[in-house]
Amino acid sequence: MAENNKKREQFEKDTRQLFHKLHSAQADNDYIFNRLTSLLSTEYLQVEEDFFTGKICLDAGCGSNANATYALLQMGAEKVHAFDLNETIYEKAPKMLQEFDSQRYELTTGSVLDIPFADNTFDFIHCGGVLHHSADVLQGLRELARVTKPGGVLYIHTYGAGGLIREMTTFFREKYSQDDAFKKLIDNLNAQKLQLGILNIFDSMERNGDDLGRKIPTQMIEELVDDDLVLTIQDRIAAPAYHEHTEEQLRTCLEEEGFSDIERLTRYPYLKNIRRFLSPLYEEYDSEIAQLCYGSGLIQLKAIKND
Ligand SMILES: C[S@@+](CC[C@H](N)C(=O)[O-])C[C@H]1O[C@@H](n2cnc3c(N)ncnc32)[C@H](O)[C@@H]1O
Repeated sequence: MAENNKKREQFEKDTRQLFHKLHSAQADNDYIFNRLTSLLSTEYLQVEEDFFTGKICLDAGCGSNANATYALLQMGAEKVHAFDLNETIYEKAPKMLQEFDSQRYELTTGSVLDIPFADNTFDFIHCGGVLHHSADVLQGLRELARVTKPGGVLYIHTYGAGGLIREMTTFFREKYSQDDAFKKLIDNLNAQKLQLGILNIFDSMERNGDDLGRKIPTQMIEELVDDDLVLTIQDRIAAPAYHEHTEEQLRTCLEEEGFSDIERLTRYPYLKNIRRFLSPLYEEYDSEIAQLCYGSGLIQLKAIKND
């Protein structure tokens, strides 16, 4: 038991340490931070424009730049409570939120597996990209259900299951944990190195009489291979865990916890980098090619707790 607790502690420490590094870099890049804060909107959530007025919200696993807390405040939430695993969130998040009245938000530490709030507290809960990095996805979901008010709305997005791209990232994640040279390569990756590598390939092609690469403007390479891409690669490969669940499993758990009107949401992620070619697969998650690549896709669910 003590051994398991120690392992869990280390796992959570490693998880937070990685995300603190990635989220801090996102916070320092205006383009990325604006992209993240624009992901959450009343249109995406399919709620009325004034839905957040007077609402007490929770951003569970808010991350170091608290981008969803920012979005909730911007959409008019009365108060947003936000927490993540440890005090590293106090480094950047308060700066990112400084344009808002500090009475409207409160940052705290805690785990989604044991949420530091009473039953039935929140009108709206956001938990984006967190559960699959925790030690127990369904326990986290039950905890989120516990603190949602009857009639309140719970929104989660979490990693789905299956698909070729997921199999590849799982392979790379295992390699990262076992191969020091590969780990170093991923940890030290940056956009400039990648751009240079591509330009070197174009040089070599040109020397051998193939000038197609040369015809691609350098500016386009810089746009397709940017810091946002590098942070995504590091997220997918260096994260200690990326648990996979099907939509079915998540829906069943929500139903058991007394939720109904469970809706799967989707959106088109606007990206500048090469991942923009994958945006249609994210949005149309049930197309044949999307399922081949991403299995059940990114599962974005909104559900209402029964009164
Ligand atoms: C991919 S980031 C998402 C951050 C933020 N929700 C967002 O949408 O940008 C995953 C976050 O989950 C947090 N996390 C992982 N396990 C957690 C747990 N058991 N309790 C609370 N947060 C957790 C990590 O520390 C990290 O900040």
